Amino acid sequence: MKTTIKTIGKFSNKEVTIGAWLANKRSSGKIAFLQLRDGTGFIQGVVVKAEVGEELFQKAKSLTQESSLYVSGIVREDERAPSGFELTVTSIDIIHQAEGYPITPKEHGTEFLMDHRHLWLRSKRQHAVMKIRNEIIRATYEFFNDNGFVKVDPPILTGSAPEGTSELFATNYFDEEAYLSQSGQLYMEAAAMALGRVFSFGPTFRAEKSKTRRHLIEFWMIEPEMAFVQFEENLEIQEQFVSFIVKSVLANCQLELRVLGRDLDKLAKVQTPFPRITYDEAILFLTNNGFNDIKWGDDFGAPHETAIAKHYDQPVFITHYPTQLKPFYMQPDANREEVVLCADLIAPEGYGEIIGGSERIHHYELLRKNIEKHQLSNEAYQWYLQLRQYGSVPHSGFGLGLERTVAWIAGVEHVRETIPFPRLLNRLYP
Ligand code: 4AD
Ligand code: MG
Repeated sequence: MKTTIKTIGKFSNKEVTIGAWLANKRSSGKIAFLQLRDGTGFIQGVVVKAEVGEELFQKAKSLTQESSLYVSGIVREDERAPSGFELTVTSIDIIHQAEGYPITPKEHGTEFLMDHRHLWLRSKRQHAVMKIRNEIIRATYEFFNDNGFVKVDPPILTGSAPEGTSELFATNYFDEEAYLSQSGQLYMEAAAMALGRVFSFGPTFRAEKSKTRRHLIEFWMIEPEMAFVQFEENLEIQEQFVSFIVKSVLANCQLELRVLGRDLDKLAKVQTPFPRITYDEAILFLTNNGFNDIKWGDDFGAPHETAIAKHYDQPVFITHYPTQLKPFYMQPDANREEVVLCADLIAPEGYGEIIGGSERIHHYELLRKNIEKHQLSNEAYQWYLQLRQYGSVPHSGFGLGLERTVAWIAGVEHVRETIPFPRLLNRLYP
């Protein structure tokens, strides 16, 4: 019977065949242990010389790392095995014998691993991270579909720059200049006026010269946008969404979290409501906690965010940032024009900002003035302004950075391990 490692438990005490790669091997004169992987999981194959005979035993012993195989064997329950099962091997067909696989079980440096990312992905740890990434994506679709949102796909090639003009990737669009999308938000606002509640999930690009553990040049963002939703309700939807994906990973990725050595108690503490502090309170907190240089009007850097996050078990919202720090589309606070109705959600344990969001300006004149003030091209934003001319309504939305969220939930230090092929400053290979 052909099966996969993930479903092998259904065939206890029966003979099965799996297609697999040899991840690792240990052997003595009498017994060989084959670490097999097939993409769905990992399992140990046991080859006992006294049972299989000399020929098959020698074949097993000669297998090289990452050789591809068809392996047949009897499925045995084994409570010591991470998957709960072991395979007593009865036959091996070699599909392709690998030679000199570069990533050996010894330690390798980061640059070496990054140069071999196409192979590094096969490792147990990377496999676990990719499975968690997939679970977060799956749970995202579940959450938004169950809450009446429609998935909408904004364009990647655009003529606008929602998050500032300094970090754009420009490209030729026949006779025009186009940019790779920094955010689908503006288009999602148009979609919300057509469909009410919408969300997108797609790649976004920032030509940021930042070399930190939180920055990618190409990253994936989930961007919900909601008509008739204001500042408060926006935060409630965010905390429900984030706690839902944490719960989903806890429920469906136990094995992967264990491979990564993630502290599960920390994830279990993620419960709604999340704490909220204003930007003003954050400044006060920082000056009282040794950050003497920071003053009202400054943006927060990673050390500031980390200091604030350390104070809480939960993700924390920082709200009402100074208008001057934020993009042109954010709605000013009616009682205090110098701050906007926005919030950044800061993950615990130093993983930084995972969400940026706000209520959007829905008054035509105010938005027009802001576009002018930010020296954006009036022409490129005509369509965006028109959304405020025909049945404008209060609306809000946010963007969750997938890779930072994966890093936090999986407990992975650097975002480079949370996306299959990271695009970083000075890295376009492989
Ligand atoms: O805060 P940002 O820039 O917000 C926006 O783009 C809004 N237009 C979203 C919206 O309201 N629809 O980015 C949102 C999130 C950040 O909180 C962060 O998680 C992630 O995107 N992010 C990055 N992740 C990895 N590398 C980068 N260079 C990132 N820049 C932003
Ligand atoms: Mg932001």
